[in-house]
Amino acid sequence: MPRPDTRTAGVRAITSLQNERVKLIRSLEMRKARRETGLFAAEGAAVLVTAREAGWRPRMLAFLAGSAQSGVPRGLVAWGEAAGAECLEVSEAVLGKLAAKDNPQTMLGVFEQRWAPEPQAAAVAPDATWLALEEIRDPGNLGTILRTADAVGAGGVILIGNAVDPYARESVRASMGSIFNVGLVRMSVERFRALAAGWPGDVVGTHLEAAEDFRKASYRAPTLLVMGSEGPGLSPQLAAACSRLVKIPMAGRLDSLNLAVATALVLYEIRRDRLRL
Ligand SMILES: C[S@@+](CC[C@H](N)C(=O)[O-])C[C@H]1O[C@@H](n2cnc3c(N)ncnc32)[C@H](O)[C@@H]1O
Repeated sequence: MPRPDTRTAGVRAITSLQNERVKLIRSLEMRKARRETGLFAAEGAAVLVTAREAGWRPRMLAFLAGSAQSGVPRGLVAWGEAAGAECLEVSEAVLGKLAAKDNPQTMLGVFEQRWAPEPQAAAVAPDATWLALEEIRDPGNLGTILRTADAVGAGGVILIGNAVDPYARESVRASMGSIFNVGLVRMSVERFRALAAGWPGDVVGTHLEAAEDFRKASYRAPTLLVMGSEGPGLSPQLAAACSRLVKIPMAGRLDSLNLAVATALVLYEIRRDRLRL
């Protein structure tokens, strides 16, 4: 499917739910449409400010009629116009169809998806921490993890194998703007294993059968942290690709921690000496 031309500058008023741009933005809730167009939507003025600060350029901006006459929203529309984005001033009824049902926002942007090139083991920054996620399934988990990866200054996030789409609305929302700050890489299991084999520092897998306490380990930089999938956990082939395996101790009767929580705990431990108030 050819990419839609959304490059016409200027603000346009839209009240019809049948408008083609309205249909396009709504379609971005579906993975198929995101794959075919290479676009995704992000909601909320604060999130759009993050996008602007990170140097992104919107393809479209849609905002509630009358809501962008001053302050931050007005500045965002000026940013959209300067970027050559199509700026759509929409009625409440139209916005109701475009915005999320819970906690709806009065402004949203449409952007081109970005994928970073695979990291080269020999060229990774010596102090970096990278994160790799095996077949992550839950978009809310992924967005939360991107937010944490942003918080610790991770070098990037690698999605291994058949992962959920980071540009899904739920993931974008949970990332709270960090989707614009964190480099995303897609890799097959084979390509990732080759990267891990040449990685200059520790490749740390998290595993429920590991004997090493994640708080007792000292991590050799650059560090590559590998997290397993929500259901099956870390696969044997990826566990074998790690240079060490660590576990987060648990006292209760639970089997495991939530993936996003486990990722945050270990990322902060790895970055412990580099993060300062
Ligand atoms: C929900 S857990 C998967 C549980 C899965 N049933 C298993 O056997 O690993 C998802 C991922 O979070 C991490 N994780 C969760 N709790 C952990 C713990 N206590 N120690 C180490 N890693 C943990 C691991 O990377 C795991 O693969």
